[in-house]
Amino acid sequence: MKPIEINIDKISKSYYGQQVLKDLSVHISNDSYYAVCGKSGAGKSTFMNILGLIEGFDQGEYYFNGENIKNHKDYFKIRRESIGFIYQSYNLIPRMTCRENIQMPLIYANVRIEDIKQDFIRIVDKLQIEPLLDKDSSVLSGGEKQRVAIARALILNPGLIIADEPTGNLDEENKSIVMDILKEEHEKGRAVVVITHDEDVAARAEKKYVLRDGKLL
Ligand SMILES: Nc1ncnc2c1ncn2[C@@H]1O[C@H](COP(=O)(O)OP(=O)(O)OP(=O)(O)O)[C@@H](O)[C@H]1O
Ligand SMILES: [Mg+2]
Repeated sequence: MKPIEINIDKISKSYYGQQVLKDLSVHISNDSYYAVCGKSGAGKSTFMNILGLIEGFDQGEYYFNGENIKNHKDYFKIRRESIGFIYQSYNLIPRMTCRENIQMPLIYANVRIEDIKQDFIRIVDKLQIEPLLDKDSSVLSGGEKQRVAIARALILNPGLIIADEPTGNLDEENKSIVMDILKEEHEKGRAVVVITHDEDVAARAEKKYVLRDGKLL
């Protein structure tokens, strides 16, 4: 497992003068399993995007393994190698097979399929998606799509998984499958940050934060 240590120190973020995050601080390492709750519009996805190095911020500092992100020449590399994303709406690419979707991160990270073959087999087996691999991702059910999306998030063995409402579109059975996987992945030493409205999902985390007034409380 890739070691990760993230220190976010008093980050602020506004959109067109509207302040969304204000002096938000949080510390995340491999033993973190955090749930983030909060009202719609509170800034949860904004926080996730900043944490996941998808979006920038206005003020504050972000240290990844001791290094200030601002001084890092290639933070896309950190994102590619150390962070896996899971979304409510799966974000799979249609007209591509599930196999191609899962292997997509390899292209960006310049990793050969042969080098992660064992991981691929293990993950596919674990998520029970072998029969889906050659299907077009757009024909799957919601639960199937989310399992494929989880496989894609895990394929490069990231130290941190960020999930934004991963069970928001799922029925109870699939919700339970996804919650079990997040927990297992955390137990292997992967940090997990899950944004959720769902009390069951939040209760499985080790710590529950509420995003309110731009801060994690
Ligand atoms: N790219 C953007 N441009 C302008 N405003 C934005 C942008 N992204 C988010 N916002 C605004 O920032 C605020 C926080 O949005 P965000 O998506 O982070 O909320 P959220 O807590 O994830 O809500 P939800 O629970 O509905 O997903 C909202 O008022 C939103 O309109
Ligand atoms: Mg959101």
